[in-house]
Amino acid sequence: MKKILGIIGSPRKLGNCEIMVKEISRQISIPHELNLLRLQDFKILPCRGCYQCLYNTGQCVLEDDLAPVINAMIDADALIVSAPTYFLSVNACIKGLLDRGLSFYSQIEKLWHKPAVGVVTAGIEGKEGYSLLGIQSFLKLILAENKGSRIVYGALPGEVFMNPENKQTAAELAGALFEPCVEKKGACCPLCGGDTFRFIENNRVRCMLCSNSGIMTLQDGAPVFEIKKSDHELFLSKEEAVKHRQWLLGMKSRFVGQKKSLKKITGSYIKQGSWIKP
Ligand SMILES: Cc1cc2nc3c(=O)[nH]c(=O)nc-3n(C[C@H](O)[C@H](O)[C@H](O)COP(=O)(O)O)c2cc1C
Repeated sequence: MKKILGIIGSPRKLGNCEIMVKEISRQISIPHELNLLRLQDFKILPCRGCYQCLYNTGQCVLEDDLAPVINAMIDADALIVSAPTYFLSVNACIKGLLDRGLSFYSQIEKLWHKPAVGVVTAGIEGKEGYSLLGIQSFLKLILAENKGSRIVYGALPGEVFMNPENKQTAAELAGALFEPCVEKKGACCPLCGGDTFRFIENNRVRCMLCSNSGIMTLQDGAPVFEIKKSDHELFLSKEEAVKHRQWLLGMKSRFVGQKKSLKKITGSYIKQGSWIKP
């Protein structure tokens, strides 16, 4: 039997995130067991940026609950992730886990392209800010294969299902989870399916999900994106993810090699300002 892990980013019990995950599970036709993980139940400390996990085969120096979360992800055949919009983005526990993402790089082989769907809930239509990009980035950077990510609206716990269309959204995500990915077309990045872009120099656009850039033209009034791969894209294949891990591993020797010149830069800032402590 398939094992599905529901990752709930909301602290609210039986809130919109939790019931969306459960509804998606109800509508999956394949027999499966649903395991649930509420991120707020786990102590996930802020990343210290020391890179030790990369050299310690994934073992972070911080003593917290990261390992059981990663193990649950490894153990699952597929993921359903949901998060509420808090102040125009996914709430902090999703970003907090993602910030520990260097630990995921040691597990590329075990985590790569687990099928996943994402749901963002928001209280006010149009006030979701960049939360959809937040959940899409989360799925990408935990190395999952995003089979579909959607926003649903509802402020009060349970309110999402006052709109029957949201049950349909759950059905669509349920149907997509174990299906092959459909080819990306239309107003999205042809490389990764991202639909958030930044306008950059020379009338070019950059996809905020895979970091590749290109041009946007209008065909019959509809935007069409031509995006080409670049050097520091956010990997589209497992090989590129492994290559990125190698690049990160090279950071230590780059640091050692440039330590003296870096100290010259930082040294003059040591004594400036007074630190306020808690
Ligand atoms: C602290 C906080 C900030 C919020 N910020 C936004 C926001 O910026 N935009 C929005 O549309 N809804 C916002 N909401 C509403 C929630 O996204 C919405 O109620 C959501 O359905 C909550 O999901 P839950 O029931 O699973 O917790 C906010 C809610 C809280 C508690």
